[in-house]
Amino acid sequence: MEFSFDVDALLPERITVLDQHLRPPARRPGTTTPARVDLQQQIMTIVDELGKASAKAQHLPAPITSASRMQSNRHVMYVLKDTSARPAGKGAIIGFLKVGYKKLFVLDDREAHNEVEPLCILDFYIHESLQRHGHGRELFHYMLQKERVEPHQLAIDRPSQKLLKFLNKHYNLETTVPQVNNFVIFEGFFAHQHQGPGVLVGPAGTIPLPQNPRGA
Ligand code: ACO
Repeated sequence: MEFSFDVDALLPERITVLDQHLRPPARRPGTTTPARVDLQQQIMTIVDELGKASAKAQHLPAPITSASRMQSNRHVMYVLKDTSARPAGKGAIIGFLKVGYKKLFVLDDREAHNEVEPLCILDFYIHESLQRHGHGRELFHYMLQKERVEPHQLAIDRPSQKLLKFLNKHYNLETTVPQVNNFVIFEGFFAHQHQGPGVLVGPAGTIPLPQNPRGA
């Protein structure tokens, strides 16, 4: 995905980590530095365009990732830059992965409710022309290391078929623990899950479950 500005200078590293401040990373020495406000605008443009492309790829009615949503949530976005081809000398973006902690009620295998706050996979997109080239795995692997989590500790917000296949192939995640919300968790989730202070246990259906908060 290409932009009118110099992505390569804006994002010096192959993977850039963005939080709610959407701060432009420090530039390489010797690179001319435009006004900081312009750099932040460029970051916001990248986030907005990635969000739109991801929504289109998943046939969502509206983007769940945008600069304004990033600014109003404590989500973390990992953005992968193309370091091989540099079209028109300005670089390109390959895709992104967005994660965040959320308080959820999830059912265990006895159908008891558990209040937990796992790291959730919220949005994930690799450009159509570059899918199935290992870029998704590179991003996911980087995120797991940075966030210090194991794949089975994650909750996935309404995963696509492609993502389910991806998780199965790269992390052997296959057997899910059935839920009544849109989050998917896998066998092993409860083994090391840090549970919130008020762990709620009861028969399924007695506690109102939150609506899918994807992107909220
Ligand atoms: N059909 C089936 N499986 C696929 C496909 C596909 N079109 N694309 C990727 N996969 C899975 C397969 O397991 C594949 O292995 P295989 O080629 O041997 O069958 C594996 O992913 C490939 O791994 P990577 O190359 O590392 O993955 P990729 O770079 O393609 O990234 C991703 C995976 C992000 C799911 C990408 O395919 C994509 O952007 N898809 C469209 C958007 C999407 O569905 N995003 C997830 C939304 S749900 C959420 O974010 C919570």
